[in-house]
Amino acid sequence: MKRLFLATAAVLIASGAFAAGGDLSRAIGKALFERAWVPAPSSTLANDGLGPLFNARACSACHVGLDRSPSAKDEKGEFTHQGMVLKLSDAQGAGDPVYGLQLQTSAAPGFVPEGRLVASLAQDLNAGPLAPSTRSGIRSAPALRGLGRLTEVPDEAILAKADPDDKDGDGISGRVNWITDKNGEKRLGRFGLKASGANLIEQSEVAFSLDLGMSSKLLTAREGDCLTDICRNAPHGGTVDDPEIRHDLVAMIADYLSAVPPPAPVSTDPKGARLFASTGCASCHTPSLPVMNGTIAPHTDLLLHDLGAELDGGATEPGVAATEWRTAPLWGLSRALSAKAGLLHDGRAASVADAVALHGGEGAQARSRFGELPPEDQAALLRYVEGL
Ligand code: HEC
Ligand code: HEC
Repeated sequence: MKRLFLATAAVLIASGAFAAGGDLSRAIGKALFERAWVPAPSSTLANDGLGPLFNARACSACHVGLDRSPSAKDEKGEFTHQGMVLKLSDAQGAGDPVYGLQLQTSAAPGFVPEGRLVASLAQDLNAGPLAPSTRSGIRSAPALRGLGRLTEVPDEAILAKADPDDKDGDGISGRVNWITDKNGEKRLGRFGLKASGANLIEQSEVAFSLDLGMSSKLLTAREGDCLTDICRNAPHGGTVDDPEIRHDLVAMIADYLSAVPPPAPVSTDPKGARLFASTGCASCHTPSLPVMNGTIAPHTDLLLHDLGAELDGGATEPGVAATEWRTAPLWGLSRALSAKAGLLHDGRAASVADAVALHGGEGAQARSRFGELPPEDQAALLRYVEGL
């Protein structure tokens, strides 16, 4: 049924019957988000070209129900959920010379995966060890709700919170991750855990490349994130000019994601909200940001902060320290907790209190203020965050 719908949609799109935007485009975007892609050479549909190396066949395999991925491991130390991936890079954010930016743990028939992920480490690597300069670290697939509203926050509102040199001397120096595009234009990054994605189309193209091994308008390597000759010379879908996933289709996925509303809080605790501000949590987890018709409550400033050595993520991205992270949005935290997702970039914190205890660097002051609160105030603050 889904296949038929997509095939019909593909004809409509090819005929120019409509462009991105509107209900039908979002419905197609949703179907594409949930679609299990297949390796080239393709069967009936255009735009097949999974792999040859990949982590999952569908966006929705990692972003199940658009919620955060659970971080549980089985008795062998392997994650039970596909949404936990191993990032690879040197200290400057350049990928491993053989394995690239991410360990791909699946492969098309006839190819071998790069390796397995056991106890959060790369194991059984098929092309020798990682380069000595390569560092690695787990990232957990975040929830994808309310992202469209985050695109609406004006750059100026985000910039107004930035204080890269800590001129106000409060120990907190959030900074924007400026990204320079192919035309040399500087743009404000707001998506991804390192705030390296300027918009949802580009963030989705990164996912097609790293997670599914598919080329797009922006990321043209048809082999995706692999550097060996075997992988490069594999059969690929599309052509150099006609990528494995067409740009208008990526735009529809972005359209679909944009329309997903932010998660609503399940409870409020006015005392907890006041303490959240007075303890300094709100200095980074900004409770309110302006959008087109009012405000939203994502509880993030969308800026990068250095949280210290405890939260060194191993691998990183160009221009961002391994200890720097975009302030995690706290909306939807109740959903993450009830899904037993595990908090922080790698899911290592089992509770809000655990997560706070790991805030060092720019977060150290808020952590100690939290520690000095009387137990009933700590409980109220935690209740507030857990209800978001
Ligand atoms: C193998 C698992 C996996 C697959 C498959 C996957 N993702 Fe993700 N996704 C992740 C992880 C992990 C992150 C966090 C990456 C980071 O920034 O470090 C992420 C982040 C994102 C973000 C950024 C969210 C934010 O809060 O800024 C978007 C948007 C996204 N993915 C969309 C997609 C789309 C669209 C697809 C399909 C084309 C997809 N993902 C496929 C694991 C996956
Ligand atoms: C200096 C900025 C800053 C301050 C102050 C701060 N945080 Fe954070 N917080 C962050 C960043 C950045 C992350 C993401 C870290 C990571 O993923 O490893 C984060 C992550 C979290 C998470 C995990 C969210 C998730 O979805 O995984 C929770 C919960 C949290 N903070 C609560 C708090 C509370 C409560 C306070 C006050 C006691 C606080 N934070 C103060 C920057 C800050």
